[in-house]
Amino acid sequence: MRIAVAGATGLVGRHVMRVLTEQSHDRVALARSAGTDLLTGHGVADALRGVEAVIDVLNTEETDPAAAEAFFSATTSHLQSAAIEAGVRHLVTLSIVNVDLVRDNGHYAGKRRQEHLTRSGPVPWSILRATQFFDFAEQTVAWTTHDGVAAVPPLLMQPVAVADVAQVLVEMATGPATRSIVELAGPDPHDLVDMSRRVLEMRSSTVQLRPSWHNGVFGLEFAGDVMLPSVSVRTGPTTFDQWLRDSSADR
Ligand SMILES: NC(=O)c1ccc[n+]([C@@H]2O[C@H](COP(=O)([O-])OP(=O)(O)OC[C@H]3O[C@@H](n4cnc5c(N)ncnc54)[C@H](OP(=O)(O)O)[C@@H]3O)[C@@H](O)[C@H]2O)c1
Repeated sequence: MRIAVAGATGLVGRHVMRVLTEQSHDRVALARSAGTDLLTGHGVADALRGVEAVIDVLNTEETDPAAAEAFFSATTSHLQSAAIEAGVRHLVTLSIVNVDLVRDNGHYAGKRRQEHLTRSGPVPWSILRATQFFDFAEQTVAWTTHDGVAAVPPLLMQPVAVADVAQVLVEMATGPATRSIVELAGPDPHDLVDMSRRVLEMRSSTVQLRPSWHNGVFGLEFAGDVMLPSVSVRTGPTTFDQWLRDSSADR
């Protein structure tokens, strides 16, 4: 199949592109660095010519709710208009487990808008909601470190390997549009402070950890079980231990 990946150069996008190559699909990369700007629509119509399915794994660094909503509104609309013109049969969008439950966060507001437009738009769709990625611990440490101390919130989550997310996205894109939402998590629940400690040990980092809800990034809207998936969630096979061993070997 000829499959386009919106956000092909990002963390998830690179894994999706690898899986598409492994399965001998014809890939089209959509990203500003690949000559396509989905915020303005520049180059999208040309890029989607002959494409049968699109996987949307775009992201933005906007944290303001209005700015994040504006990003996902514009990019989803440009993608859908060009997809209809090109006869694309399936749009698969990556979203986040429990995106409805976290209200006081700009990124989640943007993702809700993206889901809404995907579900109400003209292109047959499927949505994959994933839990946080294993990489999330190291990202949170980077976001919250000041003067050698990382204020990491004690989030409860059931994180998943990006490689497993990419496998499921490609499986969905090569199948029929279901107009439904699938949830994907990793095999086990974890606490973000413990994950961060183990990642810092693996990196031999001198950063000190301070468990805290006063971190400037994640407030109490993420406390409790709002990040945990439902019991009927599909689970990826990779454990955090396995991911740590693989990441350590890659260093
Ligand atoms: N992090 C998690 O734990 C988690 C969990 C569940 C779901 N997700 C979702 O996963 C998605 C992907 O995240 P990620 O970490 O892979 O993102 P990322 O690494 O930041 O990659 C973002 C991608 O979007 C592209 N992009 C940004 N603006 C663009 C524009 N105007 N036009 C075209 N392309 C543009 C970037 O390429 P250029 O810069 O070259 O344009 C890049 O390829 C996000 O939507 C996020 O909500 C994340």
